[in-house]
Order: sequence, then C-alpha cells, then structure tokens
Amino acid sequence: MEYFTTTSKAPRRAADCVIVGIYAKGKFGIAADDINSASKGELKRLYKSGDISGALGRVTVLNNISGVKAHRVVVVGLGKSADFGLVPFRKALAAAVKAISKTKTQQILVALTLEPGASPYYFGRATAETIGDELYRFTEMKSARKTRGMPLKKVGLSIAKRGDAGQAERGAEHGDAINIGVSLAKDLGNLPPNVCTPSYLARQAQKMAKGNGRITTRVLSEPEMKRLGMGSLLSVTAGAAEPAKLITIQYKGAGKDAPIVLVGKGVTFDTGGISLKPGAAMDEMKYDMCGAASVLGTMATIAALKLPINVNVVVPAVVNMPGSRATVPGDIVKSMSGQTIEILNTDAEGRLILCDALTYSRRYKPAAIIDVATLTGACVIALGKHHTGLMSNDDALAESILAAGQRATDRAWRLPLGDDYAAQLKSNFADMANIGGREAGTITAGCFLGKFTDGMKWAHLDIAGVAWHSGAKKGGTGRPVPMLSELVLEQSGVLPK
Ligand code: BES
Ligand code: MN
Ligand code: ZN
Repeated sequence: MEYFTTTSKAPRRAADCVIVGIYAKGKFGIAADDINSASKGELKRLYKSGDISGALGRVTVLNNISGVKAHRVVVVGLGKSADFGLVPFRKALAAAVKAISKTKTQQILVALTLEPGASPYYFGRATAETIGDELYRFTEMKSARKTRGMPLKKVGLSIAKRGDAGQAERGAEHGDAINIGVSLAKDLGNLPPNVCTPSYLARQAQKMAKGNGRITTRVLSEPEMKRLGMGSLLSVTAGAAEPAKLITIQYKGAGKDAPIVLVGKGVTFDTGGISLKPGAAMDEMKYDMCGAASVLGTMATIAALKLPINVNVVVPAVVNMPGSRATVPGDIVKSMSGQTIEILNTDAEGRLILCDALTYSRRYKPAAIIDVATLTGACVIALGKHHTGLMSNDDALAESILAAGQRATDRAWRLPLGDDYAAQLKSNFADMANIGGREAGTITAGCFLGKFTDGMKWAHLDIAGVAWHSGAKKGGTGRPVPMLSELVLEQSGVLPK
C-alpha cells in the first residue's frame, strides 16, 4: 500500500473517498467541519435529519456533495469526544472501510480528527493496521476466486501540521510491516489442518531464511528430539502419523546481543488425544497453532523492517491424536530438563511441548523469553476475547509487555503465579502432574511452564481467547503480532521518543 500525508483541507483533495468523523452530540471533527462549510451546511442538515450521527462506528456514505472534490464522503461516528483515542479511532475507521469495501475505491483520504497532542506515529500505524485488517481475505481454499476486495492502492493521512508528516509516514510504514506479520499469522491459522501440518510450518520457516542473510532456520526431526531427551514433547505426538518438528529461526540484526526468544505453541490440530475432546466446534482446534503463527508472523515483521535486534523463534509443532500408540492418562514421561511428569490428561498437551521447547531455548542465553500459546479454555472464561492472559516471573518484563500491548491496542492482562497455585500440580508418582484441577486453570498451566524457566526472564502469553473469532466471523485475528511487534520495535530503539 502507498501512504502519503497531506495538510490540505478535506474538501479540496481529489480522492475517491474522504473519511471524516463526527463526535457524539453533533460535534464535528475538523474535516467534517470543512466539508460542512464547503457544502453550505449539508452535513448539519443531514445531522438534524438523523442521516448521520456521532454514535461510535455508525457510518453513512454520501456521494457527490457539492463543493467537495472527492466524489464519496464517508461520515463516521467517533463516539464521545472526551473518550476519543486510538481505540475508538480504529473502530470508526474499520467501520468506514467496511462500508465502502464493495466499491471500486482506489484512493482514500483518512481525515478523522485525533485529540490534540496525539502521536502522529501511532495515527499512521493504526491507520495502516486497521486498513490491512479490513482488507484481509482468506480465499486460498475457494475454487472460484470471485469477489476480490476493494482495489485500494493509495491512502492519504490528513495531518494537522507539516512537521507531523515524517512520523505519520513512518508509523504507516511500520503498520504495513506489521500487516505482513498479522496476515501471515491469520493465513496459517485459517489454513485447514490437513494442509497446515508441522511439516508445513517447517517449510514456511525455511522460506523465511531463503535469500535473507540475517535469518537461519533449523528444523529438528523426531529422532533428533529423542536424542535431546524431549520425552515430554514426544509423548504428545506418539499417537500421530504426521511427524513432529522442532522449528528454530534465528534473526541476527544486532551483532552479539543476547536475543529475545519467542516460543510459539504449534499444535496443528488438538483432538485432545485419548482424553478426547467433545465434538462441538472441534474444527476450531486447527487454531491451536496460533501461538506458532504469531511468533512466525512477528519474525516476518522484523525481517520486513530489518530491525537492529536479535530475535530467535522456537516452535514445537505436533498433532495431538488418539491411537494405539498414543500416550494414555497415567503415563509418566521425562522432560528434557530431567523433571518427570505424570500425564493425567492428554488434552493438557500444550504445556508438554512448550516445556521442552523452553528447556531447549536455554542454549540461546535469552535476554528474555516469551512463550505464546492457545493454552487453556479457562483463559477464555477469565478474560474473554479481549485481553491476552499474561504471566511472568519478572515484573519489568511484564510491565513492558503490558505497555506494548496498550500502545499497540493489542492488550494483555496480568495474572499472578506463585507456590499456592503451583501446589495444585503435585503428583503422587512423578515430579509433577500436567493438570492442576478446575480452579485457576490458566494460572496452574503458567506455573507448570514456570518450572522450566528458572533463571530466565520469562513471560507466558495465553492467547486462547484472542487468537481467533468463532461463529459467523470465524477466522484468525493475527493477535498478538501487533503487541509483540511493538515490543521488538521498542527494544530496537526505533520508536519515536
Ligand atoms: N488447546 C486447548 C486450549 C483451548 C481450548 C484453547 C478451547 C481455546 C479454546 C488446550 O490444549 C486444552 O485442551 N486445554 C485444556 C486443559 C485442561 C485439560 C487442564 C482445557 O483448557 O480444557
Ligand atoms: Mn488440548
Ligand atoms: Zn491444545
């Protein structure tokens, strides 16, 4: 996508479409005001007649307004002016773009007002990310490639002063790179489980390294994992015909610095194993590799921006299947760390692959290690579809992740860890059990992983609620690629001060 900035007044731009906003109670944004004047009070009349409104996300498309060069004006409600900020901005812009998504619009001018003092950088970012989100389509598996989306080519950002141009354009450029990562994460999630297997994920990782001197990909096979002592990871794949892979990607953009390590749960389908899941909506367990998808997506964003940072990705990729060779409840396995685990429920498999991936990652001497996983249904109950669950053994790391999520409008909420919860994992027969009972299921899963991260600065992101939409809008969200990207952008020192 091509982005440009402009300080010229909204009525004077010859775009296919200008997007302007009005707040609740009929307070016009600057561009709406300008268009109202140019059209001799047309917007005021439409407001009085109830055709346009300031209710957040309410959209009206107007054609051929007199005195306005653009032949389409989209008026969108911005909600209460006191509450305005990046979140309502994104909601309003998304609604506006959706409303014209069936038109042949090639060029739009985004002229939604920001509050005074708002960052032009994040305005550019949010604009690019929101448009990318709205234009995304997954059509790979449809035989007829009929409805193509809107042929948008150029997006103008209306800015208050010339001095904001550089920051706004940089924001849009970063947003566009984040879209690459988000789209990849959505695609990998949306692909069916008979296509997106552990081997498929491994091939995508190998593709990233092709022709990129900063990236090295290595894929470990089952026999190699066996030699490393990954008895926990391998117990999950025991019932599957499809081979497991341990995928590692190293991105070197900053010499000898200790890397940030991102570990992503890659269960390309989770049947539950012998502890079989019920049938309803089981297809959605194709999304059980969204942690892997999000760390691969973040890597794609990092590569697109050639960030001056070192980041490693580790993806344990498996299929969780029942079968005559499958692990059964009561089995005890030995993890790569040497700790033994009594598997009381084969459906608590994510932690079993992640613990060996965390142990493996010690070889990188990480500055920080963050695992991302669709780990527990309990997290969906606790936080719903809005916040990612965050757990950490390091307050500073947790704070920086929470802050990155805020700035990127891809938020997390911290939950506690601690010995009281960890005690729920006691086993009569092994060092620990792989489940901790019904209470605090998200936290006991976090405590389980915490037993493998001693001495490392570690954070765990449970994305079970946020990684995909169910129902009519079923599809991957690409979260938390924006949050992770914001974190690495910050660590790279390339964000505006
Ligand atoms: N992949 C699931 C978690 C999940 C379930 C994510 C539903 C999103 C929606 C995970 O492997 C799992 O099955 N967890 C179990 C753990 C339990 C057996 C302790 C769960 O949440 O029920
Ligand atoms: Mn499971
Ligand atoms: Zn799972």
